Amino acid sequence: MTGAFVHPTAIVDPTAQIGDGAQIWHWSSVRERAQIGKNSRIGQAVYVDHDVHIGEDCKIQNGVSIYYGVRLGDGVFVGPNVAFTNDKYPRARSTDWVVVETYIEEGASIGANATIICGITLGAYCMVGAGAIVTRDVPPRSLVLGCPARIVGSVGEDGTPVFDDGRIQNRTS
Ligand SMILES: CC(C)(COP(=O)(O)OP(=O)(O)OC[C@H]1O[C@@H](n2cnc3c(N)ncnc32)[C@H](O)[C@@H]1OP(=O)(O)O)[C@@H](O)C(=O)NCCC(=O)NCCS
Repeated sequence: MTGAFVHPTAIVDPTAQIGDGAQIWHWSSVRERAQIGKNSRIGQAVYVDHDVHIGEDCKIQNGVSIYYGVRLGDGVFVGPNVAFTNDKYPRARSTDWVVVETYIEEGASIGANATIICGITLGAYCMVGAGAIVTRDVPPRSLVLGCPARIVGSVGEDGTPVFDDGRIQNRTS
């Protein structure tokens, strides 16, 4: 992991692959065989489960857990305390639980405290509003909000949302 930064309080398994320029901050944990792409930034108290793939140039904010079965493409943003899942019907004593895979495509952006129910794909450059519970596939460049999340508009690659009623949310105004 040439050129990567790992804070002394972070725990990175020796079998993990950390790309050049990646950063892993305080109290984060990266498990066996996980892959973190070039220049991706892993914030504080982030848990990256075994065999998880995180692409290049991603930004994972504090308090996120990314479980086995979740795969992030390049340039994905994950806001603070986003919850990914990998077991649709969890039980503490279950011995036959099945990991259900979830894909987050390039450039997707997930707002703070959103919950991603496993088994879906979040399309390229989509945006998930803060606090949403996402239960279905999200088409590329769609804006979804609420619990359960519903499509309310679209979003450009620069992140500017356009609501279905035509309102353009200009971030500079
Ligand atoms: C979805 C989002 C991009 C929309 O921002 P915006 O374009 O400025 O939208 P506005 O604040 O003008 O809100 C437009 C409407 O959507 C609603 N809305 C906005 N965000 C919402 C959300 N996360 N969930 C549900 N409804 C939301 C507003 O209440 C408003 O509805 P109304 O017109 O009926 O009053 C933004 O609210 C959001 O959730 N961003 C993610 C922030 C985040 O988590 N960042 C992480 C790093 S800190």
